[in-house]
Amino acid sequence: MTRPADLPPSCTWVEDARDERLRDYFSLTDVALRRVVEPERGLYMAESEKVIRRALAAGHRFRSLLMTPRWVDEWPDLLRTAEEQDAPVYVAAPAVAQEMTGFHLHRGVLAAMHRPELPELVEVLRGARRVAVLEDVVDHTNVGAAFRSAAALGVDAVLVTPRCADPLYRRSVRVSMGTVFQVPWTRIDPWPEGVDSLRELGFTVAALALSDDSVSLDDLERDPPRRLALVLGTEGDGLSPRTVAAADLVVRIPMGGGVDSLNVAAASAVAFWAVRPRGDGSA
Ligand SMILES: C[S@@+](CC[C@H](N)C(=O)[O-])C[C@H]1O[C@@H](n2cnc3c(N)ncnc32)[C@H](O)[C@@H]1O
Repeated sequence: MTRPADLPPSCTWVEDARDERLRDYFSLTDVALRRVVEPERGLYMAESEKVIRRALAAGHRFRSLLMTPRWVDEWPDLLRTAEEQDAPVYVAAPAVAQEMTGFHLHRGVLAAMHRPELPELVEVLRGARRVAVLEDVVDHTNVGAAFRSAAALGVDAVLVTPRCADPLYRRSVRVSMGTVFQVPWTRIDPWPEGVDSLRELGFTVAALALSDDSVSLDDLERDPPRRLALVLGTEGDGLSPRTVAAADLVVRIPMGGGVDSLNVAAASAVAFWAVRPRGDGSA
């Protein structure tokens, strides 16, 4: 395919799937590779027009855009924003874009974004009453789903431990419906030493786990503390014993039907809902 005659001059036509100027877009389906290169290069990928708009609304900036020809006229304001931010707009034939990224660009547009600096813990927690901590959650889908629940159910901030999957990874962003741009978050490092920092900031730290000495979520719901941090554990093993030992209390979601535990994202939604602030300012 040759450069379409009506392509705006501000767009750069790309014919080589290995064009180094577009290395941000190489091998997007290689999760192991992207997990390393995206934070290292200070970028993340925003996929689809909706996600891009949410990222821009949160003050994030383009590094570049990649589109296929049929979408170029669809969102002139995005092209204008890219120009204002000095970000190139690359246009490639669908086959070239697919060879480059590893998938068909059916959403029409992909953006490489500058990864914002993470805020300090105290900044993220200022004024927060409900906080979620995701300890070493490895699945990007679960991270995204937990953020979506956090946004919907009154959680003011999310903290992710050093080994937790990246909330700005493409899949997390998509599953979160863009709420990773909306809910304040940062990494809490070191962990589980960070439990002490949370306590010093006035939070009661509740470990969500299935241990024998746990209290039921029903009890916590009846009388929640004013500032509460809910700590959720990794998919396989759950919370580390050190985290459970460091927490102020252990909370169990009562289970039935012969099921011993919920998926971590489902558990987060149940817990967030139960302890949501009720509006009178008391808890
Ligand atoms: C799939 S579970 C891990 C199960 C793991 N075998 C365990 O014993 O915790 C992932 C996380 O979801 C939360 N979770 C799931 N079901 C729960 C329940 N019934 N009560 C409290 N937390 C739960 C916990 O934070 C847990 O670490």
